[in-house]
Amino acid sequence: MNSAILVRDLHKSFRTGEIDTPVLKGVNLDIAHGEMFFIVGPSGCGKTTLISLLCGTLRAETGQLEIMGHDLRTMRESRITQFRAENVGFVFQQFNLIPTLTVAENVAIPLRLQGKSARTARKAAIAMIERVGLADKVNERPSRLSGGQQQRVAIARALVHQPAIIVCDEPTSALDSETGRQVMELLTSQPGEAARTVIVVTHDPRIYHHADRIAEMEDGIIRRTLDQTEAAAAFNFTPHSTLTALCPSSFVASPSGWH
Ligand SMILES: Nc1ncnc2c1ncn2[C@@H]1O[C@H](COP(=O)(O)OP(=O)(O)O)[C@@H](O)[C@H]1O
Ligand SMILES: [Mg+2]
Repeated sequence: MNSAILVRDLHKSFRTGEIDTPVLKGVNLDIAHGEMFFIVGPSGCGKTTLISLLCGTLRAETGQLEIMGHDLRTMRESRITQFRAENVGFVFQQFNLIPTLTVAENVAIPLRLQGKSARTARKAAIAMIERVGLADKVNERPSRLSGGQQQRVAIARALVHQPAIIVCDEPTSALDSETGRQVMELLTSQPGEAARTVIVVTHDPRIYHHADRIAEMEDGIIRRTLDQTEAAAAFNFTPHSTLTALCPSSFVASPSGWH
């Protein structure tokens, strides 16, 4: 199968002193290209550890881990850093913007890491900042922005180099419902855009309806994976795709009122 992400029997422990504590105990995942894939589960079950392995910021002990057909477990460290810079965008709960840089400079980072000139990077960064509705904040420092605006900057930074995979760790849990909804709209591929694979780790049920599939994680394993219909029944929501089919897109995804 041609998966964007393929994980088989993945194990990871953390060593504290003499003791090895297993955190991932045989994770299996198949995520298709273009999917909006959620991983949900209680605090401490291993969600952040799992996506750190998917991004190559942590190394697994045993198991199989392929991203876009590349075997991450055998990849050299220097190659992983390059692979991540080219193929992965990140969004975190606490935004993780660099306070001393302007909005445009923050968003330009992935392009600068790819070796683009400052001028080219700034131009592309500004175009992406406009797309997330913050054209008037280009030269501001992050501390002058609201939480929702900062998360939109973080999304612009995650998307600016058009990575195939976007990884989000609790992207809406520091935001109110409406801001969280806007953030999820920005992460969803729009018609005409290249499809991207989005992995969202969350325990925010307010956004579950955006998922194509939801994997439930518990104590270091994926207990079950629900398709949209199963998830809608289990968590009692109307899938986002049904909403967009019923309503004009300008109603559901309107960027008006974001400024
Ligand atoms: N670097 C680390 N060293 C030791 N233990 C860790 C480390 N990172 C995470 N853990 C432990 O692994 C478990 C899972 O953590 P985490 O993946 O952050 O869970 P979640 O994101 O689901 O809340 C927790 O018990 C946590 O304390
Ligand atoms: Mg976590």
